[in-house]
Amino acid sequence: MSKLLVTGGAGFIGSNFISYWLSQHPEDSITNLDALTYAGNEANLADVQDNSKYSFLKGNILDKEIVGRLVGEADIVVHFAAESHVDRSILGPEAFVETNVKGTFVLLDAVRQRKIHFHHISTDEVFGALALDSAEKFTEATPYYPHSPYSASKAASDHLVRAYGDTYGLAYTITNCSNNFGPYQHPEKFIPRMITNLSDGQPVKVYGDGKYVRDWLHVLDHCRAIDAVLQSGKSGETYLVGGMSNDVNNLEVAKLLLQHMNLSEDKIEFVKDRPGHDRRYAVDWSRINKDLGWEPEHSFEEWLKETITWYQQNEAWWRPLKEEAEQLYVKSGQ
Ligand code: NAD
Ligand code: DAU
Repeated sequence: MSKLLVTGGAGFIGSNFISYWLSQHPEDSITNLDALTYAGNEANLADVQDNSKYSFLKGNILDKEIVGRLVGEADIVVHFAAESHVDRSILGPEAFVETNVKGTFVLLDAVRQRKIHFHHISTDEVFGALALDSAEKFTEATPYYPHSPYSASKAASDHLVRAYGDTYGLAYTITNCSNNFGPYQHPEKFIPRMITNLSDGQPVKVYGDGKYVRDWLHVLDHCRAIDAVLQSGKSGETYLVGGMSNDVNNLEVAKLLLQHMNLSEDKIEFVKDRPGHDRRYAVDWSRINKDLGWEPEHSFEEWLKETITWYQQNEAWWRPLKEEAEQLYVKSGQ
């Protein structure tokens, strides 16, 4: 029976994780600390709201008093809270440094005094970009080379976690995962933006030439990977987590979506590229597979269809978020 402190649990992955964890580990309890920024939404947690093992506290990870108190009551911290969107980091990097770097520092400092385990959720974007024409993949040994303020802030947070391990003996694990997709993802991100644009009769907006490759991981596979690491991961270890999408590029994802939604390809609009846009991500997840027996279970194509259906059936969830998300793209010209 463990007490988890989850940060950022009202966001996309954190809320999926809380629902997943309470269903798989009903004996455990979870406190969710979330500032409810534009990306946080209590509606994501409707299914656990009445669960006596779940509690929510609206608060900022930069607040040392709240963090100290909650860390004091926990057995383990699972840290999701972050500013997560690359395009927003280009328009306004400061919040990324504040939350992703300083916020992680505040948590680490509280955790080191309590000597509990810290699990850090990070990203494959810290490694930078791979070439389009290569078969290379990121591994745990790939050097860091972030290109956006977002990925640089996540890289800094990873370095801080490891430094606390080396300097203070902090017990920690890190997962660096690829692009998640699935229910409750904010309509600012590529797949939900495309689905919700099309639902509104708008085109999908493809950056640059569209030949940018992401490694798509279903959010429930990500939750299963975190579970495997929390159960049996080695302290001080990093695990890369990736999906089953096999080097599909953005244009191909757009075409798949159109096909599933019975729409023609003239709904594709090429727009201005993202500055510093990483060409290709691909994750070698053999360490977590070999050491912990994890592998992704959700195929990309099938679960893309499920995701389309989820957004079609949950317009009441995304509609209030859509206008602000599109305002962002008016600012960036995309
Ligand atoms: P999200 O933007 O959907 O959610 C972030 C959550 O953190 C929100 O609920 C927000 O309110 C909260 N938050 C932000 N600043 C906070 C602060 N200062 N104090 C407390 N709470 C705060 O993000 P997500 O997509 O669910 O990503 C979760 C984590 O996973 C992040 O650390 C992100 O870097 C990482 N990650 C995401 C992906 C992906 O594809 N979405 C892939 C790899 C890694
Ligand atoms: O790789 C993991 C990362 O994946 C996470 O760390 C980030 O938190 C998460 O936001 C995601 O970053 P990306 O920048 O890869 O995701 P995004 O959904 O913003 O974009 C995916 C790809 O699609 C990218 O190549 C940019 C492109 N794109 C995006 C949008 C929003 C478009 O072509 N059109 C769009 O409208």
